[in-house]
Amino acid sequence: MSVWLRRGVKAVLVLVLAALALLGLTLGFLHSPFFRYPTGDEFPPARIHRLIWPTIGCPALVTPGGVLETELDLDDLEGAEGLEAEDFRASMRPARAELAGISRELEPLEARRGPSRRWPYRGAEGEGEEVWTVSFRVPGDATPELYDLRVEVEAEGEGAAMSEEQPHAVGIVEDGDDRFTFVTLSDIHVHERGNSSLFSRQTDQGLSDTGEPLFLYRAIEQLNLIRPDFVLMLGDFIRGQRRPGELLKEYERFYQALLELEVPAFLLPGNHDQYVNGIDGARWFEANLGPLYYSFDVGGCHFTCLDSYQWPEGDRVVMNKIFFMEPRRWQGQVMDAPAGEGYSAPGAQLSWLEEDLSDHADSALRVVAMHHDPCTPEGRGYSYINVNYWGIYHAGGGGKGREELLGLMARHRVHHVFGGHLHMDAVSSLPWEGGGGETVYSCQTCVYFGGGGWSGHYPGYRLVEVEGGDIVSFSYLDGTASYPFYDGSHPGAMVDLDLLETPAVWAEEEGPGEGAAAGFAAGNLLAVPVRLRGLVLEAEASPSGRYEVEGAELIRAVALPGDGSRALLYLEVMVEAGVPGEAGDRPGVPSMKRGRVLPVQGR
Ligand SMILES: [Fe+2]
Repeated sequence: MSVWLRRGVKAVLVLVLAALALLGLTLGFLHSPFFRYPTGDEFPPARIHRLIWPTIGCPALVTPGGVLETELDLDDLEGAEGLEAEDFRASMRPARAELAGISRELEPLEARRGPSRRWPYRGAEGEGEEVWTVSFRVPGDATPELYDLRVEVEAEGEGAAMSEEQPHAVGIVEDGDDRFTFVTLSDIHVHERGNSSLFSRQTDQGLSDTGEPLFLYRAIEQLNLIRPDFVLMLGDFIRGQRRPGELLKEYERFYQALLELEVPAFLLPGNHDQYVNGIDGARWFEANLGPLYYSFDVGGCHFTCLDSYQWPEGDRVVMNKIFFMEPRRWQGQVMDAPAGEGYSAPGAQLSWLEEDLSDHADSALRVVAMHHDPCTPEGRGYSYINVNYWGIYHAGGGGKGREELLGLMARHRVHHVFGGHLHMDAVSSLPWEGGGGETVYSCQTCVYFGGGGWSGHYPGYRLVEVEGGDIVSFSYLDGTASYPFYDGSHPGAMVDLDLLETPAVWAEEEGPGEGAAAGFAAGNLLAVPVRLRGLVLEAEASPSGRYEVEGAELIRAVALPGDGSRALLYLEVMVEAGVPGEAGDRPGVPSMKRGRVLPVQGR
């Protein structure tokens, strides 16, 4: 072998070894605990302290005249041992600004101590095992609305006293038939301006100059108009991944926007919501929104919400990787985690899920919601596996629980699993064990604009219609797609996200004209008819209490507090299908519906 050849081989070997060493150093560096961002953020005071249920993120739905069962953790309240039902007081006030001033007292019925039924893993971390369950009678004439709840303790002899309020905690709902609707939202990703990094672009579109998430406020406006019976939010409310300590600021912006939603909202956490960036996002969620996993029932149908990011704290810490910030894990994991080890949700979640589903084997419908669904696409579970970078670097996943989840859904005959995380619309199904049906798995698009530019997915939501215990519709047009928030969005087509501006559905007050008390105009740029149940007009009260309504159906009239001459009129409006625009800059032709309300004179 010539000298030159030998030298060449040597050089190549040295180069390969150097490259391997460099790669090792880089990977070690990326995962080194020395590159945690020291932020020193103080954990802000909790909004959920003693009144632990219902909460803004896990509300109670009660019919007028029905029973509201609250849960209170009074372990740190002196003199709480001897409390009786009469020592508790509760009142609720409508969240809607126009009805400010109304306050309804609830009649206390029963107070007892026992395990929490609403916060499944409460007590798992050495907290008190028992909570107070206090039930109250809701007034039979309470207006169906979303209410803020206040619960107070005033026990003279015992000396115990407390008062705590929880906004948007109680939804008074009409005694429904077996029809209801709900909306699912996912991946809202409230973030600050200039949030892009080299490997993760975030557009500033939809953010105000001061960083307000206008895109979320616009989405909420449409949801308030459509007014489903409730909203199910599938996680990733924030980003929490660009600058040290920003998680808290984003969470506050999200919370303030959430207060504009006039529909009860059930929230479950995604990965971004539980990153540890200065503070532990999972703890913020519990301290301000509600439990990380739980279940609830509506109209004979059972809904189970899971925490699919059940990683120990070390895996959730966001670290500085120079170009961008990243946690060790961002994919799904659902397991029976040991308690007290910094897991997002300590406690045996899989065992609880099994119990929860078998307890509701008789429900007309079983729905499970989680951020990372275990199936999409077609059973491959992309939200649980590792992400592969060019075959040399695997990260983000390998989470446990995917197979177990698929098995549980099949064994317990779950009808539908709603998920997000992948920011795309996808639908598939797997058969139930023993036949007789199948579990539909749907994954959905996000609420924000991602990196902007061209995309195969537009910002949207699922509008789910339930009739007689069956989900009769959950998609827009093609059986897979989400409903778009903006005109110019078409299922399956590429869309320039930078051009999306015009809301797909809107309504506004309009000069009512001669003799009328109020008027409105509603527009629809969707290719399907929409039913708007949330149009509310303020008008002169009819002396007869009756109104003639053109172009809409009057659901109810409520006297404005403090002013008997004005009333709040709740309307239901059907707007026919419009012609959607080709793109954001090529507007469509809206279908318009105009109407007005006339007070009926006489008695
Ligand atoms: Fe996610």
